[in-house]
Amino acid sequence: MKQDRNFDDLAHKFAASIYGTAKGEIRQTVVWQDIEQILLALNPNQDVHQHKQVLNVLDAGGGLAQLSQKIAALGHNISLCDLSSEMLLLAKQDIRENQLLDRYQFIHSPVQNVAEHLNEPVDLVLFHAVMEWLAEPISALSSLCEQVKPGGIISVMFYNYNGLLFKNLICGNLNHVEQGMPHRKRFKLQPQQGIKPDLVYQCLEQAGFEIIGKTGVRTFHDYMQNHDMGDFSFEQILAMEQKLCRQEPFLSLGRYIHVYAQRKN
Ligand SMILES: C[S@@+](CC[C@H](N)C(=O)[O-])C[C@H]1O[C@@H](n2cnc3c(N)ncnc32)[C@H](O)[C@@H]1O
Repeated sequence: MKQDRNFDDLAHKFAASIYGTAKGEIRQTVVWQDIEQILLALNPNQDVHQHKQVLNVLDAGGGLAQLSQKIAALGHNISLCDLSSEMLLLAKQDIRENQLLDRYQFIHSPVQNVAEHLNEPVDLVLFHAVMEWLAEPISALSSLCEQVKPGGIISVMFYNYNGLLFKNLICGNLNHVEQGMPHRKRFKLQPQQGIKPDLVYQCLEQAGFEIIGKTGVRTFHDYMQNHDMGDFSFEQILAMEQKLCRQEPFLSLGRYIHVYAQRKN
């Protein structure tokens, strides 16, 4: 894989895959709990829903801006940056319908060049579900770290290499594992590669950040082999995911990991 993956041809398929699915709902629930903690850390002594200080947020590779719209609805300003004009178009329609346009600036650019479009470093960078689509994910992450102001936070969600490995192991795909899990192009929405968590954590620390939280996103839901077996409801799965997602060993088995880190002053 030599290039970053522009989602122009995948935008509609992607939209259908995240809205109203069990996977999407688990992700939204556990990551939003973290975002509430992040907003509190950036605005101490205040109720998360009653911010006085308006934060500047960069949604890097933000796609349809599903999560950042919830942040915008609390009164914060969002710069939405994406390589795909089609994703930006769909996002803009949705943002308009939600009457949040005045909170948004749209940046059609690779995240690696976003500094050219920002006046100053921001309070919060969201970099969710993008690294696994990039040719050079760690260098993109380090360049985004530079866009965070001292005391600000970066929130990174990445497709976990170890979760991908474990899923292939329990499905018996040992040939695929032995071949190094090459990207299978027929599964268009499957990320191009898993990201090794230690590389992300090291990159954040080397950039002068302190990791303040880690959460596994879907620590067991995707490993359930047969959803017709057992005795459970979706509500029970969602509650159990919330209970286990910040505890080892479940955290490190998440299909995605959400890690957030604060830039030292
Ligand atoms: C899987 S989507 C994730 C969207 C959103 N962050 C989310 O969590 O739902 C990946 C997005 O990254 C964008 N992308 C890929 N490479 C990029 C780059 N170098 N710079 C900016 N956006 C990029 C794609 O166009 C796509 O919209």
